[in-house]
Amino acid sequence: MSAGSFYITTPIFYVNDVPHIGHAYTEVAADVLARWHRQSGDDAWLLTGTDEHGQKILRTAIANGVTPKEWADRLVETAWKPLLETVNIANDDFIRTTDERHEVNAQKFLQHLHDEGHIYTGEYEGYYCVGCEEYKQTSDLVDGTGAYTGQLVCAIHSKPVELLHEKNYFFKMSAFAERLLALYEENPNFVQPEAARNEVMSFVKRGLSDLSISRSSFDWGIKVPWDESHVVYVWFDALLNYITAAGYGQNDEEFASRWPATHIVGKDILRFHAVIWPAMLMAAGIEVPKQVFGHGWLLVGGEKMSKSKLTGIAPSQITDTFGSDAFRYYFMRAISFGQDGSFSWEDLSARYQSELANGFGNLASRVIAMVLRYCDGTIPALSEGTAGDFTADDLAIRATEQRVTDAATAFIDTLAIHDALASVWQLVDELNGYITLQEPWVLAKNPESRERLGTVLHTAVRGLGTLAVLLSPVIPVATGKLWTALGGDGDLADQRVDRAWEWTGGAKVSALEPLFPRIESIVEPADG
Ligand code: MSP
Repeated sequence: MSAGSFYITTPIFYVNDVPHIGHAYTEVAADVLARWHRQSGDDAWLLTGTDEHGQKILRTAIANGVTPKEWADRLVETAWKPLLETVNIANDDFIRTTDERHEVNAQKFLQHLHDEGHIYTGEYEGYYCVGCEEYKQTSDLVDGTGAYTGQLVCAIHSKPVELLHEKNYFFKMSAFAERLLALYEENPNFVQPEAARNEVMSFVKRGLSDLSISRSSFDWGIKVPWDESHVVYVWFDALLNYITAAGYGQNDEEFASRWPATHIVGKDILRFHAVIWPAMLMAAGIEVPKQVFGHGWLLVGGEKMSKSKLTGIAPSQITDTFGSDAFRYYFMRAISFGQDGSFSWEDLSARYQSELANGFGNLASRVIAMVLRYCDGTIPALSEGTAGDFTADDLAIRATEQRVTDAATAFIDTLAIHDALASVWQLVDELNGYITLQEPWVLAKNPESRERLGTVLHTAVRGLGTLAVLLSPVIPVATGKLWTALGGDGDLADQRVDRAWEWTGGAKVSALEPLFPRIESIVEPADG
């Protein structure tokens, strides 16, 4: 890893269906972290993409009367790439597991493991859940209800599992249990948050089995290079995207400059990333990821939101009314990153109104309107004598700017995005209190308090500048408008977040439209 490199990934999404807000949540979190790191001077690289092989996609395509590749192409173009625009993701790459760069280099990886003796031929007999694309232990299954009464069903999908009996290739994963445990012990940050780390550690302590890594009963997948009658197990194929997209097998220099990555994943797919994936890399002699962070689920009505259970909400249902910034802000602020969180339209509307519209948007509009009205748009400057000495109240705002800049930077280092936002909001609240207390509209009436008016507006404008920079990774659209209205130099995306408070103000402000306009009535879509 080169100095300052920050390679961050989202899971690659199954293309059997269209995205819902749970998928968008993962995307937004990774994007916020990538933007933050870019604005910290790091060479940040955000990878996302799609997981297109396996039985689940094959069956969906057959049910729709098209080939799996046609189905994947359609979903990628009409649903998954558009999702990135809907929630304003600035990804650097988009990998599809049907890309040649992936297929060819995944095969190289497999051949290497085979040559090194990590793979053997065996027989698999057991249960498989196509929804999870995962081999199941009986302890993962529950008794079915309704139409599935009398059958064993997957605890996650509530659908029957299938009994498989196949000749497969196996990866000797069991050989890596000790090394994995040593990794979790020596590098407590490898799996986070703490609850996820504990879960993974106790899972590995119970002992690891070898992993079946091929299927021969269907052919929608990457061919096993030494035996073309088998395709690679879809998870083994999918995990490799993180290295094939970064140049593994084809561009050693690029690979060395990016790898290892920080993986953001939902807690349901933690084991694949924190157990199978590092074991695969250890076998291949490649450095393990920097970190695997398992976030929680978005719950609707107390249950994990999912399309298969018909609780899925399309991201555009929210962004069409509230905009992409509000989507990003809401999910990053309202849910502790790493824990589950319930989504409700009421909570979203309440936070939109009180925090974004009244708290932040209004503050920005009022301050800019006052500079326009009382100072003809010229930002009062200390150097020109239009602003005077600072009082304790002004200095307190400056101190808060510095404090929240440092606190937010420290929180982002531990991926505590919600805490970073809560810190920044202290500045929003303090600035609102400051304006109420200083009453610039009263100062403006008295020619003798002209200089004091200048100091107050100068202080408020600087505070807004700090907010624009610190909030730009989360709400890039609104802060971009604010930055322009404040007369900020250069592109907001080029301003350093870790030095946000140092901004000293532009020359002139220009008019600002309401950043978070009032939403008259929120109609909850009937068909979630
Ligand atoms: N294709 C695999 C990942 C392979 S990565 C090498 C996969 N795809 S998925 O489309 O089913 O899920 C992708 C991500 O969406 C997962 O991180 C999953 O946790 C997340 N979410 C799906 N539903 C979710 C919620 N209701 N809430 C939060 N995240 C959710 O798994």
